[in-house]
Amino acid sequence: MYVCNCKGLRENQVRTSIQAGAHKVAQVFHACGESPQCARCVHRIVTLIRAEAPRTRRDDVSRHA
Ligand code: FES
Repeated sequence: MYVCNCKGLRENQVRTSIQAGAHKVAQVFHACGESPQCARCVHRIVTLIRAEAPRTRRDDVSRHA
């Protein structure tokens, strides 16, 4: 499923960039090698960041335990 139609970013690609440490929309675009165009996808990307962030933090904690 596409999250960003302008740049063709898929949900899995965005989730992967978040899990790799991107926690802002600009960082997600940068990690995907793109930059925002119309910004209509920002809300969807923020939703994914919020959904993935707690999971990523838990993983970080367990890796350091
Ligand atoms: S839909 Fe993502 S920049 Fe336009």
